[in-house]
Amino acid sequence: MTRLLAPPRSDRELVGSLIDSSTALLAAQTHDVVRFAMGAPSEDLMPIAELDEAFATARRGRYDYGDSAGEPRLREQILRLAAEAGAPTRDERVLVTTGGMQGLDLAFKLCLDPGDLVIVEAPTYTNGHATALSYGAEVLGAPTDADGLVVDALPGLVERAGRLPRAIYTIPTFQNPTGVTMSRERRVRLLELAERWGALVIEDDPYGMLRFDGDPAPSLAQIAPDHPLVFQVRTFSKTIAPGLRVGWIDVDPELRERAVAAKQAMDTCTGVPVQHGVAAFLEAGRLRPHVDRLLPLYRERKDAMRRELDRVFGDRVVATDPEGGFFLWLTFTGELGGLDTEALFPDALAEGVAYIPGPAFTVDGSMRDALRLCFATSSPERIAEGVERLARAAERTAGGGAGGVR
Ligand SMILES: Cc1ncc(COP(=O)(O)O)c(C=O)c1O
Repeated sequence: MTRLLAPPRSDRELVGSLIDSSTALLAAQTHDVVRFAMGAPSEDLMPIAELDEAFATARRGRYDYGDSAGEPRLREQILRLAAEAGAPTRDERVLVTTGGMQGLDLAFKLCLDPGDLVIVEAPTYTNGHATALSYGAEVLGAPTDADGLVVDALPGLVERAGRLPRAIYTIPTFQNPTGVTMSRERRVRLLELAERWGALVIEDDPYGMLRFDGDPAPSLAQIAPDHPLVFQVRTFSKTIAPGLRVGWIDVDPELRERAVAAKQAMDTCTGVPVQHGVAAFLEAGRLRPHVDRLLPLYRERKDAMRRELDRVFGDRVVATDPEGGFFLWLTFTGELGGLDTEALFPDALAEGVAYIPGPAFTVDGSMRDALRLCFATSSPERIAEGVERLARAAERTAGGGAGGVR
């Protein structure tokens, strides 16, 4: 029989997102579930009234096709934000994207040929490495510790791979999934290596503005302003609301021109009414006060989660201690050492708590005894309840033999 359609691309290339699938899974649950899984601000902390007000301010042309680079009024606000953050940039470097995800898609689309090597952090943001895979990358995980990516491990990895990476994908500040932040020294060293190898450094920074403790870490783009190899990906998803689907990239102007062309072939422009809504929100000076209101709450929630983990699990877990962002990373140790977090998941869900298992964040399915917890979405009381449920499920799975402790 004649084939009328081209064959689909292989499953290996088009990997979906376990994180996104869990949104649907969680929505289907009818019992009470403490949600530590998704990395989104909870609705009660979104600036909904202010957004509604911003969206209500009508503007001519807001229902037309827009400039593929983004609405000028929003780009102006993005430049203002960057300057306020001490990382001034220029209009010819900025392109408004449909969320941070489109920034990542553009980064990999523009720099990769099938078979190219991409270095990612292990663990890393699932949708980031899935995007690299969708462009045919060979993805190599590099170790991380409490100071982020272990940059000194990269030359050895590259030597063993026998070829240079085309891109290094990193989330240096309040990393997803671990919450850790890369030290300044490592950032500088990473830029040196990228220059030596001619590799694009994709700096994915959705959480940088959400620091509730410690001293600010300069972004890679700040350490090396105008560097042609630094591709910065930003989003308003975590600071305002993810459903807006508005982000931006800050890149070399030549690369930005190519990104504009690529975006024209994807979605022409990011939704124009939404860009105007976000611009009006920013023009009214709403973002900084909103974030300032959130930060003490996030600190309180992170502290509550670490305190409850310590109280309920004691030395049976180790957890990271982030200074910002949404997540902490938990690894089972001691009596619970080796507990398989994928096997634990159905028990945990039945018990009424959800998280994302460690292997979702690795290219090779490793880190089975670890999991990601989002502390940002739940109140301290719900966090206490969720951690207790997690402990009951862990004890049951560990005691149950099959599928439990390896
Ligand atoms: C590290 C990282 N990069 C990118 C994104 C995607 O951002 P957006 O929802 O704006 O597409 C996320 C969202 O979870 C993220 O955590």
